[in-house]
Amino acid sequence: MADRVLLTTDDLEQAVRVNAALEQAGFDTAMVSSLDDVRQAVRGKQPPPDAIILTGGLHESTARRLLTAAHEHGVPTLGLVEATDEAAETIAHELGLTDWLVKPTDPAEVTATVRRLIERRRLQRRTGILGESAPIQEVLVKIEQMAPVTSTVLIEGESGTGKELVARAIHDLSPRRGKAFIAVNCAALPETLLESELFGHEKGSFTGAAERRLGRFELANGGTIFLDEVGEMPPATQVKLLRVLEDKSFFRVGGTQPINVDVRVTAASNKSLKEAVALGTFRDDLFYRLNVLSVYLPPLRERRSDIPLLVRTFIADFAKQHDRNFRGITPDALQLIVDADWPGNVRQLKNLIESMVVLAPEGEIRASDIPRDIRERTRALPVRIARAPSREIAGQELEFIFRTLVELKMQLEDLRSRIQERPSERVEVIEVGGGLGTGDGGRGRAIPASLDPLDATGEPDQPVIYKAGMSMSDVERAAIDAALRETHGNRRKAAETLGIGERTLYRKLKEYAID
Ligand SMILES: Nc1ncnc2c1ncn2[C@@H]1O[C@H](COP(=O)(O)OP(=O)(O)OP(=O)(O)O)[C@@H](O)[C@H]1O
Ligand SMILES: [Mg+2]
Repeated sequence: MADRVLLTTDDLEQAVRVNAALEQAGFDTAMVSSLDDVRQAVRGKQPPPDAIILTGGLHESTARRLLTAAHEHGVPTLGLVEATDEAAETIAHELGLTDWLVKPTDPAEVTATVRRLIERRRLQRRTGILGESAPIQEVLVKIEQMAPVTSTVLIEGESGTGKELVARAIHDLSPRRGKAFIAVNCAALPETLLESELFGHEKGSFTGAAERRLGRFELANGGTIFLDEVGEMPPATQVKLLRVLEDKSFFRVGGTQPINVDVRVTAASNKSLKEAVALGTFRDDLFYRLNVLSVYLPPLRERRSDIPLLVRTFIADFAKQHDRNFRGITPDALQLIVDADWPGNVRQLKNLIESMVVLAPEGEIRASDIPRDIRERTRALPVRIARAPSREIAGQELEFIFRTLVELKMQLEDLRSRIQERPSERVEVIEVGGGLGTGDGGRGRAIPASLDPLDATGEPDQPVIYKAGMSMSDVERAAIDAALRETHGNRRKAAETLGIGERTLYRKLKEYAID
């Protein structure tokens, strides 16, 4: 069946030209005059369209509502933005468009872009990797690039962020897909057993080795091996793994014949392997061998915009699996879930949804069904999911200001207690820049010793985040400057460090004319 594309007619001239090109390319198209009608098509009973093209009206509030609905239902959106709109990228990011093109557009380019977006969506269906957020879309692009080659891939991310899902996707999209995908958990076995598990053993090589046994590397020949929790691998096994990666051959435990294999290695760690190298628990040469290609999966709390889509999909999947007639989730309950902390990431969310689908008495998830520990583990100030668009922005700003205030308060308290210990010192400037980028979202951290204002000499190049007399926007600007400096201008990381969305950061950069 042809892919269905809806086009809005806000810019009729563009819509007509693009529509003709799409039809010629074999798409099933429909032109819709009102954005609300498009939204109905996304949310209605019929299967949603495969893609939506917005030819204009991007500044209208209905556009934001429509895009939120498209996001929640996993429908890709392409915006055609005016050449006069400065910073098309900022607009596209703010609205959450999947992609955008600047007008006047070439209908052939629009068609090619729509095809690419639909293919990406197909890839998501095939791999089961859900998510509209920029980091998940980046991961998908990487998976497509990494699948065809044989280079080693290191996948990092907190527990439950989808590392194994990504490793399987790379295998399933690779030319090795017909061969074995073998996962080994390197943390689950003691050293000797792990070696025999990975490389096999010869009969009689140790007590209990009654028969020759093939190791996982041999079993994965022609396919892919996935070394989970590779950071926990004992040092002696690390040396052996390095040798396999370098020579593509190894000995069975107790064996004298080298065994040659053709295995693609993927590995995962929920702790930073680079830090393990710095701590001396992981070999640096092995780290570089594993880290030829790398994928980082951010925690769920840093991509909350994906939560409604995950919730909706998990509810539908589990309702079907458990044969339950289930209506869905109330807006209040969804809001609580979006605001929760999710230390166990997608796995935790998925398990919770399964239990609620089975247990919720009313055939829908209500706020009262959500366990107390989840409700209580919410971030400090909830940001409303975008029902009223202007409020969402206000919410994000508020959250940022609130967090800054909470941090200042904690640091002031810390300072006060130190001053009480050393009452002769006077402190007027609070410097916190060096603490940015510690990756803990800024909560509960102490001022690093090197920046302790009591022994600081006020080094001029340290970012000053707060001084008496600064306004809140000065504070914000300084925090953004400091985060960008800290991350060497990497906006994604800077936004992460600041605990705000990338789109919000773009808007603030524009607002403060920072480039
Ligand atoms: N983006 C995603 N879309 C859909 N499902 C996901 C996504 N990420 C993770 N999951 C699901 O969450 C669960 C946990 O994922 P997975 O086992 O890949 O995580 P992990 O990072 O390997 O966790 P751990 O570090 O604890 O081993 C799985 O059921 C997986 O299908
Ligand atoms: Mg795993």
